[in-house]
Amino acid sequence: MAAKEIHLEDCLGKTVLVIGGGGREHAIVDALSRSPQVERIYCAPGNAGIGEQAFNVPLKDTDVEGLKAFALENKVDLTVVGPEASLAAGIVDAFRAAGLKIFGHTKSATRIESSKEFAKELMAKYGIPTAGYKSFDSYEEAVAYVSGRPFPAVIKYDGLAAGKGVVIAQDLSEAKAALSDMLLDAAFGKGRVVIEDFLTGPEFSFLCFVDGERVYPMPLSQDHKRAFDGDKGPNTGGMGAYTGLPFISSEDKDFAFREIMCKAASAMVSEGCPLSGVLYGGLMKTPQGIKVIEFNARFGDPETEVVLPLLESDIFDIFDAVAEGREAAEPVWASGVTLGVVLASKGYPGKYEKGAVISGLDAVQGRVYHMGTAFRDGTLVTNGGRVLMVVGSGSDVADARAAVYREVAKIDCDNLFYRNDIAHCALEI
Ligand code: AMP
Ligand code: GLY
Repeated sequence: MAAKEIHLEDCLGKTVLVIGGGGREHAIVDALSRSPQVERIYCAPGNAGIGEQAFNVPLKDTDVEGLKAFALENKVDLTVVGPEASLAAGIVDAFRAAGLKIFGHTKSATRIESSKEFAKELMAKYGIPTAGYKSFDSYEEAVAYVSGRPFPAVIKYDGLAAGKGVVIAQDLSEAKAALSDMLLDAAFGKGRVVIEDFLTGPEFSFLCFVDGERVYPMPLSQDHKRAFDGDKGPNTGGMGAYTGLPFISSEDKDFAFREIMCKAASAMVSEGCPLSGVLYGGLMKTPQGIKVIEFNARFGDPETEVVLPLLESDIFDIFDAVAEGREAAEPVWASGVTLGVVLASKGYPGKYEKGAVISGLDAVQGRVYHMGTAFRDGTLVTNGGRVLMVVGSGSDVADARAAVYREVAKIDCDNLFYRNDIAHCALEI
């Protein structure tokens, strides 16, 4: 057998570019920084906390041409994409065409997230369990349909709407208002809507690394979408998350893996748009079994911040194998659970001020992922809606929760708030 050729570049530490600048990207950068193979990490645009573990690059996550030029110029070995906006802008297609290695889905595969109708048709065609639905582009037809259906009714805008494209209408007047916003005023851009049946049950997030038919599951997690304790207040990007969900059995996870995540991966191959990145199943355990609420084509935020700290394998190997379309070793995950609490600017998800001084971080033990921070004259300040996420671990959820809230209390900033009940679903059981 011929000896394996040794290439000089294989002996050198790798340079990785992470696209994005939130807590999810901080967790990805943190995981990459634990890889012995990775020598240099760039993050575009990054944030104040990421800048302590990577070189921030002042380029927008949708500036595909600028990012491509940067990757070529700086001999980036692998690029990892965080946000859906970059994927939907076609960053993966553009990088591959330039001969650059990148972890993330093509624009065509990203439709599993960017088009609700595409995702619903895929699930119907391949028998993946989800809520019944119908889609419309006519306001009159949509109103006629919803008038004859039970309430609540779920109305979804068919496109990326930054988490604001879903309305649970309690009655006909709310349904009409939502349909009018989406179809007549084109509040999110001209589009279509999907009207689906209202399901009930606990929701959870199932993230998998996917390369064509190969699917590598990550630990399950649960997000907290509402702003305030008791799941009250407006929907947000997510106010906290944890792993170790007591209400999902290992049979449930096996079912979700086989009948949802693997089926979706193979459906995308059959449709000629194979996945090559993270598939995020937003799932619900309904009285009729586990069903898909939505698919996302990327890591979740804040789920990533609680999932990746459990990864014991070298994340570079997984990203690299998926990006090259070759088999990866099955990822190894630590036992125990993680829990994270988001600190957000007062007013979020509505209007909020930026620039409030944050102190006390030096005293915090454990991980603090920055979601929206910046340095102003050398002082750390708030710079977004969601600002920080404190993540801790424990042998069980109660343990992890006590540890995290102890650390959260050390952070001083007069313009931040957080939920006090992260993981309440797990602890009320
Ligand atoms: P999505 O953006 O599709 O994840 O929807 C946002 C939130 O709306 C979900 O996390 C659910 O809480 C809720 N939701 C979406 N679809 C349904 C449904 N069919 N039944 C009940 N709740 C839903
Ligand atoms: N945690 C919700 C999301 O990433 O979409």
